[in-house]
Amino acid sequence: MVDQPMLAQLHFGREDAERDVTEGLLLCGGFLSNAAYRGALSGRKMLIIGRKGSGKSAICMQLMSDGEGGHRGGKVLVTPDEAAGEEIRRFELQGLPGDSAKALIWRYVFAVHAARHLVDHAKGAHDGGHKTDSVKALGRFLKQNGEAPGGGGRLVERLAQGARGLQTSLALEAFGVKASVDLAQSPSEGARAARQLEIVEQGVARAFEDLGCDGVVHPPLLLMVDQLEQVWSVEPDSNSMVIGLLLAAKHAASLYGRSVRFLLFLRADIYDSLSFGEGDKFHGDELRIAWTEQALKDLALARARASAGEELTEERLWKELFPQTVGGEEITSHVFGRCLPRPRDAIQFLNLCQEKAWLDHERDRITEADVAQAGRQFSEWKLKDLTSEYLVAHPFLRNLFPLFQNTGYVVTRAALTRRFEAAAETLHHDFPAYANALTLPGIIDVLHGAGFLGVRRGNDVVYAGDDGLPVQPHETEFQVHPCFRAALGATTAFDLRRYEPQFADARIASGNYSPGASGSSSLNRDDRLLIQVARSCHSILAQVGRAVALTRDVRDEITLQVSRVLGEANRIPPGAAASAGVDVDDYLLTTAQYFTGLAAELRDCGLEESTGVGDVARRMEEEARRLRRSAGGSYGSSGDSSGY
Ligand SMILES: Nc1ncnc2c1ncn2[C@@H]1O[C@H](COP(=O)(O)OP(=O)(O)OP(=O)(O)O)[C@@H](O)[C@H]1O
Ligand SMILES: [Mg+2]
Repeated sequence: MVDQPMLAQLHFGREDAERDVTEGLLLCGGFLSNAAYRGALSGRKMLIIGRKGSGKSAICMQLMSDGEGGHRGGKVLVTPDEAAGEEIRRFELQGLPGDSAKALIWRYVFAVHAARHLVDHAKGAHDGGHKTDSVKALGRFLKQNGEAPGGGGRLVERLAQGARGLQTSLALEAFGVKASVDLAQSPSEGARAARQLEIVEQGVARAFEDLGCDGVVHPPLLLMVDQLEQVWSVEPDSNSMVIGLLLAAKHAASLYGRSVRFLLFLRADIYDSLSFGEGDKFHGDELRIAWTEQALKDLALARARASAGEELTEERLWKELFPQTVGGEEITSHVFGRCLPRPRDAIQFLNLCQEKAWLDHERDRITEADVAQAGRQFSEWKLKDLTSEYLVAHPFLRNLFPLFQNTGYVVTRAALTRRFEAAAETLHHDFPAYANALTLPGIIDVLHGAGFLGVRRGNDVVYAGDDGLPVQPHETEFQVHPCFRAALGATTAFDLRRYEPQFADARIASGNYSPGASGSSSLNRDDRLLIQVARSCHSILAQVGRAVALTRDVRDEITLQVSRVLGEANRIPPGAAASAGVDVDDYLLTTAQYFTGLAAELRDCGLEESTGVGDVARRMEEEARRLRRSAGGSYGSSGDSSGY
């Protein structure tokens, strides 16, 4: 172990917070305080909303921990499993709408958890507190309703019992209420349940008050709910279940005041798909988890050091263990630019790099090739994960990927319109229930919201979460996020026809030719024509250079293709065309044809005229005409006068 290289020790932790606590790094220096954590800790925010893998559970785990950074008061974490979710979804009360009924069962869950905490807490923190009448009453209530602390029982079983109690009658004698008598006049099942619940809640609130747990003497009880996605599905009852939870938490927070603090961790796709009348009242409670590239970099370093030792410096991590650059791009931009901004992605990608180098090849440093290989596999994972992340909210997402497969990653609205129109019928047929979302603006919104498509704004490409503004109707240029490009086979900016060299390179490069009779001092016609090709290329390249409003990746792609033409023309030494087997007239005509084709592609792609793409296309057509004229006519007759 001792003489193993540092790369062997390097590990960025587990990809989910639950396992990262037990077998990973989360609580051993791997946690990074962020705005969401501070918001949660301060008690100002109740709803922590984040994409899958953005670190909801991590905050939850950190707060639950007893060490530094943990919540110092009592804490309870509720994570409903499928069975418990089923119980809540099925819970109905005659006389109450779905959301309100679900809110009641959640309020019951909260009240019971608080009561169990209080009974325990009174014994420990408040000397003799357990002898307080209101606490004793809670103890009796819990016992009579099968909820005694320490009594165990899975959440689902206790829920089932509570649900039945609310629907019929709870044992409320502990609070001095004879259910059968006092509640007999309730007009409906719903009204009776609400009345019973109020009695329980008042019992809990009174105990908090009697003990003096007002959040000042000691920190409040922290009640957290995480992993709701486990019980989330398309059924409308799922919606009610979450809305009920929000309503219940809001109600309970005001009821228990400073004694209890609520934190609900919600996945963004779930939260954003809810619509309910009271929704506007929650905006102030919302806190969305956001990650910047710098924060992810800090996270990576913290984790690298937690695994490989404190002596690992940032410099050493990114310059020695990782290759400094990949394909000319700085390593951290390369890696984090290819992740959606969330820790799970970063952890997975970085671990993959380490595995490729150390597990697969037993190297002691990661090479460029390892990163590239890891990147391809990572891209495939992420495309699949995106599908499953949105399976409930947008089940058609996977069927949209072919619109972006094997083409350039820069996509204009015009191109997308054509592709979408071709696919629309099948999509509507396969997903009849989603016809409303399956329109061009609809899918652009979904793809942008999921982080799959970025939109060009000024000179930037903006992805979801960067500034929160949805795609506007006048915006016309999009880019597939780098994360998904490899998996889609969309690794070049623009789907331009590649220039195929016309001569066997080997022949020219090998020098297998003899200089023409005219020698190199006086240029023959072939040479002049070849110079003409080079000039045309330069002229086009200059025009591309002036099109500063054109997306850089697109400019680079045009430049690349035209440079290939230029490179080939330059490779034919003066006087050698004929002996190298080059028919220069043919060569010019083919090149002209290539430029005409390229111009047509550029015109067709739907990029805005204001980007300068039209000028580039026109220049190409002009140069193509000039080359044709030169090839057809005698040298010097035309086309050479306008210059550049
Ligand atoms: N602030 C942080 N500091 C350090 N590591 C973090 C932080 N936030 C998240 N992580 C790590 O990122 C990974 C993903 O986080 P987590 O499991 O909390 O995501 P999640 O939002 O709960 O995702 P899901 O919706 O899938 O449950 C975990 O390994 C977690 O330890
Ligand atoms: Mg989680």
